[in-house]
Amino acid sequence: MKLPPFKLDQWLAAHEFATPPIRYNLASSTGPTWTLGEIAALGGGDVRRFDELRLSYAPPQGGKLLRERIAALNGVDPDSVLVTTGASEALMALVCWFTAPGASIVLPRPVYPALPVFARAWGLGVREYALSPERGFAQTADDVLAAVDGTTRAVFVNTPHNPTGSVMSAAEQRKLAAALDARGIAMIVDEVYHPLYFGEEIAGAAHLPNTIVLGDFAKALSLPGLRVGWLIDRDAHRREALLDMRSYFTISGSPLTEAIAAHALANASAVLDRLKETAAPNLALLAQFMQEHRDRLGWAAPAGGTTCFPWLLDGRASRPLCEALAQSGVLAAPGDCFDAPAHMRLGFGSQREGYAAALDIFAGVLRRKGV
Ligand SMILES: Cc1ncc(COP(=O)(O)O)c(C=O)c1O
Repeated sequence: MKLPPFKLDQWLAAHEFATPPIRYNLASSTGPTWTLGEIAALGGGDVRRFDELRLSYAPPQGGKLLRERIAALNGVDPDSVLVTTGASEALMALVCWFTAPGASIVLPRPVYPALPVFARAWGLGVREYALSPERGFAQTADDVLAAVDGTTRAVFVNTPHNPTGSVMSAAEQRKLAAALDARGIAMIVDEVYHPLYFGEEIAGAAHLPNTIVLGDFAKALSLPGLRVGWLIDRDAHRREALLDMRSYFTISGSPLTEAIAAHALANASAVLDRLKETAAPNLALLAQFMQEHRDRLGWAAPAGGTTCFPWLLDGRASRPLCEALAQSGVLAAPGDCFDAPAHMRLGFGSQREGYAAALDIFAGVLRRKGV
């Protein structure tokens, strides 16, 4: 089986891990960086002394303490939580579970690029609903339901959404879950950016009928290097099967990263505060920048998450602009990574300092002739 090139990760890796790395990373979809020392210095947790940590396999469903803390964060029973190797592994397990002859999954477009690739690779059909820039990338139950047909086994919603930053309201989520449940279709809600909202705060979806919620430590919790994620599913039968898949894929997590993750969750408010303190002022600068460049760039202000998806109004592909920006020290992700070439993904959650300087460079590049 051959998978297509993962353009987004190739682009990010080529610049993030270059020597020296890119100066201003506005392509990133994560929160601000933490060092292990900073996380360990947060109080209130019980980081086990590392020299006493047993480096055996962790339980396949995840360690008890970590599951309890994920459950507490989401207001669910710890038994319904399954720890995974990033949300990526949860997505793989779900695609595997829902694959059946002639079956399909409904996905947004644009979407985190791995998901349709996994689905097609496993043999699960893909049907799409578009988040359109003309409507501010709105996510509505009716648009999603219009893509559902007799082959649909699951519907995927990502709110707050990567890359657009759009949010599905709580009322739309309830409406969608009820309509799908009536047809025996599962809803998967990817909440890796929950609870970062810039308008109405939205409750998590874990209590909706026949709904599986995904979360991770990479996005809102700003610790992508832990490679820890989770899924929450109250359906015990399906959860058992998903657990088996995890055993096949990666056996278990690491007790080391699970211990750090559990400690971080005991300090979730401090971790989320750093994210908000980074994202909110950067977003204000970005809004101002978009206003000043409205003759060149279209955008829909994000309602949550750490990214937005502006576009070149003349319809040209953004890759040459992103290349010129990268040469000047500012990284934006070309829209072709999401099959939307005129767009680009701009993040505002990871750069704790220098966001204004990065936007000044961006403005200078835009002023250049021919760019
Ligand atoms: C919406 C979304 N879901 C899931 C993932 C997978 O994240 P991870 O495996 O780092 O937890 C990503 C990664 O970018 C994402 O953007």
